[in-house]
Amino acid sequence: MKIASSLASLLALASLASATTAAGKDPIPGPAQKVKHPKIAKTTPGASYIKGRYFVELAEGATLDPVATLSASLNKASPGKYTGKHIREHTKIQSNLFSGVSVQLEKETDLEDLLKVKGVRKVYPVKINKRPTLVKTSKLAGGVPQDVTSHSQTGVDKIHASGHYGKGVKVAVIDTGVYWKHPALGGCFGKGCKISFGRDLVGDAYDADTNPTVVPDDDPMDNCSDSSHGTHTTGIIAANATGISKDGFKPFLPFLGVAPRATIGHYRIFGCNGNNGDDIMAQAIFRAFEDGAQVISISVGEAGVVRDESLSPRAIELVSRAGVHVVVSAGNDGAGGIGTIGDPAFAQSAYAVASVDNNRVVSSTFFGPKGEAYGYAAASNGAWKGSNNTAQILIADPTDGCAAKTYPVTGKVLLVRYNAQCKSGAICGSAAKQGAVGCLIYNVGAIGGSPLIPSASLDDLASADLLATLKATPNAVFTFTDKKALVNSPTGNTASAFTSYGTDAELHFKPDIAGIGGNVYSTISPFSAAGAGLTDAYTYESGTSMAAPTFAGTLALLIEARGELTVEKGKALMQNNAQKLKIYNTTLNENPIRLGAGLVNVSQAIAAKSMITPSALGLNDTVRTQKSYTLKLKNLGKNTVTYKLEHVGAALANSAEVGNDMPIPVINYTPDYATAEITPSKITLTGGKAVEFKVKFTPPKNANKKLLPFYGGYIKATPSDGSPSLTVPYAGFVGDFSKTKMIVEKNPVSGLVTGVYSEDSPITEGATLNATAGIDVKLVLGQGTRVVYAEVIKADSLPGVNPSLGVLVPTVPADAANTPYSIRVAAYKFNQPRNVQIEGQGNHVSYPIPWNGRVTPAPALGATDTPRQHGNNSIEYPLPDGKYQIRFSALKHFGDARKASDYEVVTSPSFELVH
Ligand SMILES: *[C@@H]1O[C@H](CO)[C@@H](O)[C@H](O)[C@H]1NC(C)=O
Ligand SMILES: *[C@@H]1O[C@H](CO)[C@@H](O)[C@H](O)[C@H]1NC(C)=O
Ligand SMILES: *[C@@H]1O[C@H](CO)[C@@H](O)[C@H](O)[C@H]1NC(C)=O
Ligand SMILES: *[C@@H]1O[C@H](CO)[C@@H](O)[C@H](O)[C@H]1NC(C)=O
Ligand SMILES: *[C@@H]1O[C@H](CO)[C@@H](O)[C@H](O)[C@H]1NC(C)=O
Ligand SMILES: *[C@@H]1O[C@H](CO)[C@@H](O)[C@H](O)[C@H]1NC(C)=O
Ligand SMILES: *[C@@H]1O[C@H](CO)[C@@H](O)[C@H](O)[C@H]1NC(C)=O
Repeated sequence: MKIASSLASLLALASLASATTAAGKDPIPGPAQKVKHPKIAKTTPGASYIKGRYFVELAEGATLDPVATLSASLNKASPGKYTGKHIREHTKIQSNLFSGVSVQLEKETDLEDLLKVKGVRKVYPVKINKRPTLVKTSKLAGGVPQDVTSHSQTGVDKIHASGHYGKGVKVAVIDTGVYWKHPALGGCFGKGCKISFGRDLVGDAYDADTNPTVVPDDDPMDNCSDSSHGTHTTGIIAANATGISKDGFKPFLPFLGVAPRATIGHYRIFGCNGNNGDDIMAQAIFRAFEDGAQVISISVGEAGVVRDESLSPRAIELVSRAGVHVVVSAGNDGAGGIGTIGDPAFAQSAYAVASVDNNRVVSSTFFGPKGEAYGYAAASNGAWKGSNNTAQILIADPTDGCAAKTYPVTGKVLLVRYNAQCKSGAICGSAAKQGAVGCLIYNVGAIGGSPLIPSASLDDLASADLLATLKATPNAVFTFTDKKALVNSPTGNTASAFTSYGTDAELHFKPDIAGIGGNVYSTISPFSAAGAGLTDAYTYESGTSMAAPTFAGTLALLIEARGELTVEKGKALMQNNAQKLKIYNTTLNENPIRLGAGLVNVSQAIAAKSMITPSALGLNDTVRTQKSYTLKLKNLGKNTVTYKLEHVGAALANSAEVGNDMPIPVINYTPDYATAEITPSKITLTGGKAVEFKVKFTPPKNANKKLLPFYGGYIKATPSDGSPSLTVPYAGFVGDFSKTKMIVEKNPVSGLVTGVYSEDSPITEGATLNATAGIDVKLVLGQGTRVVYAEVIKADSLPGVNPSLGVLVPTVPADAANTPYSIRVAAYKFNQPRNVQIEGQGNHVSYPIPWNGRVTPAPALGATDTPRQHGNNSIEYPLPDGKYQIRFSALKHFGDARKASDYEVVTSPSFELVH
């Protein structure tokens, strides 16, 4: 810790000249003016921020305990302005890499003064990170496997078999806390225990939205959160659920986590409920670093655009440079389509981890004539009890049940395809009245069913197996049970439906790699088990939240085997040796924008005797791509090896459709491959030597640029000594990415487009809008953008005249001193994530701007700060009655924010504004 020579001088106020506030008399503001606070970090407007909470990064050499001094400085320079506890310390970060303090301002408007304090390097509004949520996946059919884990899919089985379990490697989990009393997690906390370090940084009652006050203590225990997320992620890495007979803690089958002998730390950053502040996330990252963690696993994320300058991505970069491997879940917004990778997963050094489904899952089950298992989801009104219910199955037409048609179902179980027109209660109830002994609905998630007979649902995949059996043996007798059994998952070893797609908005290669996140069995707290009606404190969960710790555990195994390594080398070994998977139900190679290098194979990474760097290539778009790329192949072994270099294509990922500005939710893959010329194509290297080679890519010839296609594939090196081949994944965009449509004007699927709305529909020319009653303006972005804003312009203005009347001021509560910075800012936004066709976990279908006819001067193009209202520098005007239009401007990809021509501009129909 470096100590400042003089605290007083460090925190002295540079100047506190009171800002001149415009009177707001002139209803038409003057020309654009610059409002600039270079010290304030850009905010990500999709996110929310904690009221009055700012993280103050101190200049190098700063000491901590600045708050008293800061407070005194403010008082001295502005006598009488500040009274009482106008500024309070919330939490501080004290690390060799970074120091600062998170403060709570009594009034939001005090920010203006805080920014002027000397020695304050940067002020970050504290972002709220959403509590991680899980994706419920349905249970599927077929087979009777024995292993509840996914270790055979990731090479972990081989490492365990060799007697290695991560011993001596320090892994920190940053999450909702951990129920360390769980016998599978060692049952104790502290030195000598499995969970041996970490702390609770927040306390039970903390919630960034409603109670952002931390009450830290030294015990990361969580026995109060519903999903028990942190106990689940910690167990994925560390559990040893073998030989446990204690009531309430018996696993379905004994199992081990990925690195059960690693030294585990847990930093609790969420209270029992609610969200987290990014100041606490950053604090946890630095604390884990200071406590000697070699791997940090984070399963938290928000929608993102580009590597921004917010706190936790910054923290990740700093600790990664110091050699800590930071693993971050890629995000669960894959159902939104392209470019949904999360923040902070997009941090350059982070291992952004995508999710692949487990091959197996435990499910409530019935059994077929050959003893094969079919997974089902019990209806909420009740399914089978016991294990001695046998019956044949009758397949009915979907409309049969609904129309209460009669059919010979007496003594049988009815099987009917889901039909949106007809409720499961009606179908199953009608079947019951006709003598059915059970009811199955397929092609659907959860159902209510009928209280009259046992009812359950099957998803389309499970039903495919069942229908095949019934086709072959229509009179087969099935045994319906409440037993849980392991069943094979048809989506096993393919990308999870929810896993977020790369790239970021600058076409950087993301995600980096994949772990198993679909159907992962692990530990939970007794509180969570009781809430879910489970007898034992374990459950299956799905999400990239699960994929991240699965991968983090493999990093512990890698470090145990190969010793400390840099992040660059760790990434290279893991990416070079990852498995290229197929796209579900096809023979096509998965595009790296979905799973990065592929699914981890740690046993191959540990054994690797060669390495290629860089280990992933972001090729940019075909206009900005390099003529050729240089890679370096290194022989890490002792013997001379000859390598054959070749190209392997992956499916082209078409992210859009013609006539729709909103990228499609389900990527359309086609077998259009790039080609690559590799020189030389054969390399011989003596032990320890490295050599460079060049790759020239030619994008797929048949790609249709209108479909916004992303191409990808792998460069493969096959060694002559029989060891496995290594690959380097690449991904790029076909076309000029800067010409991509940013603002959605056409969206035939949902009709949701950018514009001014009246009665839920976009207005047409000449509409009358009442400012007093409130006007609904909607921004819909097809692509994430670095700058976007909405202005009012005079309708029908003459050519050559700047018609801008200022940026829309969203309608906000009048209480400025209590309104967070993020809400006080005008409709002028930085790093705005794209919208999606279907609401995701972190993404939204549109950005509404509620408006009551007020504007603020538009900042000069390229200004680095958002104009603010209601603050000391606020200038805000009500527009008089008149004829106006709204002009939306979004900075195109790679655009220069200072150049007007780099913005895509969309103008609304004109309207009459009245009050
Ligand atoms: C992992 O790599 C090893 C060595 O190449 C190979 O034998 C094994 O089959 C791989 N595991 C998987 C799941 O692909
Ligand atoms: C798991 O726990 C059992 C019972 O305490 C112990 O015998 C075994 O060695 C442990 N396994 C590992 C991999 O540490
Ligand atoms: C199961 O059902 C069969 C046939 O209905 C009957 O013979 C048998 O006794 C039952 N077994 C149990 C354990 O209830
Ligand atoms: C692509 O090119 C643009 C413009 O030069 C640059 O800003 C961006 O970072 C590049 N992306 C990658 C992945 O190289
Ligand atoms: C955890 O919660 C469960 C369920 O509420 C309760 O039975 C148990 O006693 C709690 N355990 C601890 C250690 O607080
Ligand atoms: C798998 O692909 C085939 C052929 O494209 C298609 O008919 C079938 O419906 C697909 N199955 C599933 C479960 O998606
Ligand atoms: C606008 O709406 C307000 C409040 O709803 C109403 O009092 C006012 O009369 C409306 N103005 C016009 C011109 O209709």
